[in-house]
Amino acid sequence: MGSDVYVVSGGNGYIGSHMCRFLHERGENVHIIDNYSTSPSKPTHSYGTFHHIDIGAGEELCALLKNIKASCVFHFSARALVPEGEADPFLYYRENLIKTLMLLESCHQAGVKKFVFSSTCATFGVPDTEKISEKNAQNPINTYGNTKKLLELAMRDLGEKKLMDFVIFRYFNAAGCSPDGKIGENHDPETHLIPNLCKSYLEGGESTFKIFGTDYPTPDGTCIRDYIHVNDLVKTHFDGANYLNENHGFFDFNLGSSTGYSVKEVVDTFKKVSGSDLPVELMGRRAGDPPQLVGDSSKAKEVLGFNPQMTLEDSITHTLNYFRLKKDK
Ligand SMILES: NC(=O)c1ccc[n+]([C@@H]2O[C@H](COP(=O)([O-])OP(=O)(O)OC[C@H]3O[C@@H](n4cnc5c(N)ncnc54)[C@H](O)[C@@H]3O)[C@@H](O)[C@H]2O)c1
Repeated sequence: MGSDVYVVSGGNGYIGSHMCRFLHERGENVHIIDNYSTSPSKPTHSYGTFHHIDIGAGEELCALLKNIKASCVFHFSARALVPEGEADPFLYYRENLIKTLMLLESCHQAGVKKFVFSSTCATFGVPDTEKISEKNAQNPINTYGNTKKLLELAMRDLGEKKLMDFVIFRYFNAAGCSPDGKIGENHDPETHLIPNLCKSYLEGGESTFKIFGTDYPTPDGTCIRDYIHVNDLVKTHFDGANYLNENHGFFDFNLGSSTGYSVKEVVDTFKKVSGSDLPVELMGRRAGDPPQLVGDSSKAKEVLGFNPQMTLEDSITHTLNYFRLKKDK
């Protein structure tokens, strides 16, 4: 156990809960701040001390951070549904942008030194290269991406002014869950491919699984995405926080697996892993889906030793475990 006191914002949600478990299993001191707005209305795990509070609570949050002597914040809480942000951009600018700026001020006033931020490949918009590195231009095509890009800009500025130290990670698709299936991905609504495949298979209901777009300029015509197992992701967050022990300022990393899988490939792998013959229906394209989003993680490899251990099969197997356990409860 180190000397840091860790705060996980959004620690009741999908990625945050895995971060809490990772830290808890290392014997670290973990505090969770969450308003339960996009996760269940009570704690989903016991890997730390829960504080039911909004990141925009200002003085109240600052007092809490001072009281627990917080030194490092992993900031996961956000609204992260692209269509929701398009329908209600003010909600996204308030919840993601304004409240994170308030969180940053509370952290600074409370003496927090290290801040690790969940950004997204949505800040890049439609890329003009096969793989997306930190050098690609950031031209978001939706409000969600705009909020994250603006926050990156603010953090770079605060880091350069030596007010706090920042590592920001741009994820592609987080996938999988704890191998024992105790915690997992359970959004409502769920927009991600792997949990939706698991739900369709285990819950039945709709007769077919829909694939949107089969005429993209990709080898099998379906979109290509990059999946990273959530346990590889949270371990790298810990490495990122430790990097700030010796390095000060602002550091950004794209975190992908550098290997893309087409939607068809994911569906075929799901069928193989689950032994199911889930019926699939081929649909037209959805608006705003770029053909390919694959991360170039060379910088994270070089600087942080990023070395993902889990495969796409692992992500699917673990997610199935999670939904099977939930169904049996
Ligand atoms: N899941 C992915 O594939 C993915 C990809 C790229 C980026 N991200 C980013 O990763 C982060 C975590 O994603 P997730 O899938 O775990 O999300 P999630 O919705 O499962 O969890 C977010 C948590 O934050 C809490 N929260 C939201 N607003 C809050 C507020 N104002 N105050 C306090 N708590 C609040 C919610 O109650 C929830 O528990 C987000 O910032 C998201 O933008 C996720």
